[in-house]
Amino acid sequence: MNDKFSKIIRFIKELYPDENPVPLHAPRFMGNEKKYLNDCIDSTFVSYVGKYVTEFEEKIKNFANIKHAIAMVNGTAAIQIMLIAAGIKKDEEIITQSLTFAATAAAIRHASAYPVFVDVDKSTLGLSPESCEIFLKKYTKKTKNGLINKVTKRKIVAIMPMHTFGHPVNINEIKQICEKYGLILFEDAAESLGSYYNNNHTGSFGKASVLSFNGNKTITTGGGGMILTNDDDLAEKARHLSTTAKLKHPWAFIHDAIGYNYRLPNINAAIGCSQMEYLAYILQNKRETALLYDKFFSEINITFFKEPKNAISNYWLNTILLNSQDERDAFLKYSNDLAVQTRPAWTLMTYLKPYSDCFRIDVPNAKWLEERIVNIPSSVRINNENQKR
Ligand SMILES: Cc1ncc(COP(=O)(O)O)c(C=O)c1O
Repeated sequence: MNDKFSKIIRFIKELYPDENPVPLHAPRFMGNEKKYLNDCIDSTFVSYVGKYVTEFEEKIKNFANIKHAIAMVNGTAAIQIMLIAAGIKKDEEIITQSLTFAATAAAIRHASAYPVFVDVDKSTLGLSPESCEIFLKKYTKKTKNGLINKVTKRKIVAIMPMHTFGHPVNINEIKQICEKYGLILFEDAAESLGSYYNNNHTGSFGKASVLSFNGNKTITTGGGGMILTNDDDLAEKARHLSTTAKLKHPWAFIHDAIGYNYRLPNINAAIGCSQMEYLAYILQNKRETALLYDKFFSEINITFFKEPKNAISNYWLNTILLNSQDERDAFLKYSNDLAVQTRPAWTLMTYLKPYSDCFRIDVPNAKWLEERIVNIPSSVRINNENQKR
């Protein structure tokens, strides 16, 4: 076993020769970041009023081919505002996957709604349409007040899949389920900027979606998030709510709702504008890394997770599947001891105490995957042409 492990570590260190430790996913600043940041400081526009916020939104809109993009302080806040702006009410339920980062579930609770946890597919790592149907058929009933969870008595209003590690879920089937049961489709696309399903950008399939620009994501703004939507009304409400719900007036402070101070500052957006200028290069570099990993792991008989059918993945975090939880844990210790950062999948939401009052069904695939997944270093590889500035 150690022979295999040492081969993997050698290979990863060769991919990232100048880095010690080799990070799981480090940001890269290869363009105009410093120039645009200086511009913010010189202009004094460092908070959320400033040209870079609008420019960043325009760039994302064009890239994802979506009508509205509303920049927020982070992805978690963006999910909360997206749900509130879409009219999700207290105690309503939103179906999501057990295998996700806690922010998906936390943001649903921040919006006063409840997540319902269903299983994922082994072929996508994301929400399983089949598991959704099992839940809907077994535990819900149609009433004059909408679809009700027979156990919790709460109203089910939406489904929010998450594109795990950048791999698109089977979104067409999930969309069909939404149509069949009269549910709203949201997407947690925090990890999937640059990922496509049937040539459409992830996050463009439902009522609205969210991206994250945390320091560990495909591109970063330091901290940041974005709501994507084609819905004019939702976009206007999200923009208004996230900027303290203040009515437009030259001097008076009149707020027509309990607002949030969640808008992305100009200095963060400035970094994002620069990163967007070479997003295509970032995606290409990451795809090349995934191909190298794929070839290497197939030679040593370890499963490297590849983009699902009909999908183009951004390969945000490369993923291998080991044979058992014991092997996973042994490799995590071995690699981290040798300064190669690797990590397991998140502990399933089903097991986390803060969500113990949320409804869930059996999640055998999520459990199976959680025991075996290891994320391996996935940053853009530095070479002679793209030296860090
Ligand atoms: C699946 C998922 N949802 C939501 C978020 C929240 O984004 P942020 O960290 O920008 O708040 C993240 C990332 O961190 C994420 O991975």
